[in-house]
Amino acid sequence: MEVVPLDTLDEAGALGADVIEAAVRRSPSAVLGLATGSSPLPIYRELIRRHQQGTGPSYEQVRTFNLDEYVGLPAGHEQTYRATIARELTDPLGIDAQRVHGPDVWTAPLAEAGARYERALTAAGGIDVQVLGIGSDGHLAFNEPGSSLASSTRIKTLTQQTRRDNARFFGSPDAVPTHVVTQGLGTILRASHLLLIAGGPGKADAITAAVEGPVTASCPASVLQLHPHVTVLVDRAAAARLARLEQYRETYAAKPEWQGL
Ligand code: GLP
Repeated sequence: MEVVPLDTLDEAGALGADVIEAAVRRSPSAVLGLATGSSPLPIYRELIRRHQQGTGPSYEQVRTFNLDEYVGLPAGHEQTYRATIARELTDPLGIDAQRVHGPDVWTAPLAEAGARYERALTAAGGIDVQVLGIGSDGHLAFNEPGSSLASSTRIKTLTQQTRRDNARFFGSPDAVPTHVVTQGLGTILRASHLLLIAGGPGKADAITAAVEGPVTASCPASVLQLHPHVTVLVDRAAAARLARLEQYRETYAAKPEWQGL
């Protein structure tokens, strides 16, 4: 795992955009895994800015997979993750909607949505770069504490804390759906490169537990320690409680230029 401590989330966004652009330049039909929430927005905004400036790669052949989806919202609802990702990234990059995938919670039976998603992911050849945020309780995608570290895509129940955290998108915690379909932790581990971005003091404990704590289902993001290629981009506030912060700084400063992230 490579922890990259940065001053601001915007710097993290620029580095994250570098990683994604490099993957798309290497493989124009790359498969990108996309997270929602506030954390990845600096990456998405930077990708769009570069695309509009004409300095980004072509996204024509790229395919994307959303990490998760709420259950119970009507298909066109603006807070579905399908609509959110289209608005925040894939439409501005000009990626055809046919190439933008996610858990399909609108086709019955819902119990099979996870297996259908896993099949589509396998058919696409798996994810090259998976963008991730982290919940204040250490959740990854919507894998709440206690989720199996080997889990596949399936339906899950949100905790009250996550519904409170996400209430800002819905007006009140009660309006936040109670259920979701989310990539499992085992699914996330199958992506080639995991790119986690976190900022702000509210993420400091979760980041410390995920990076330096034991691997445990009690902190789902600690499963990252089992993956061979993880990049963790953190701003000053999110990195504040890391015991090995100085070591991460020194390692990043001494990083050979040829290595990349
Ligand atoms: C959400 C998403 C996660 C996200 C996390 C943190 O509910 N399902 O993918 O990483 O919670 O969200 P934010 O980045 O807004 O803090």
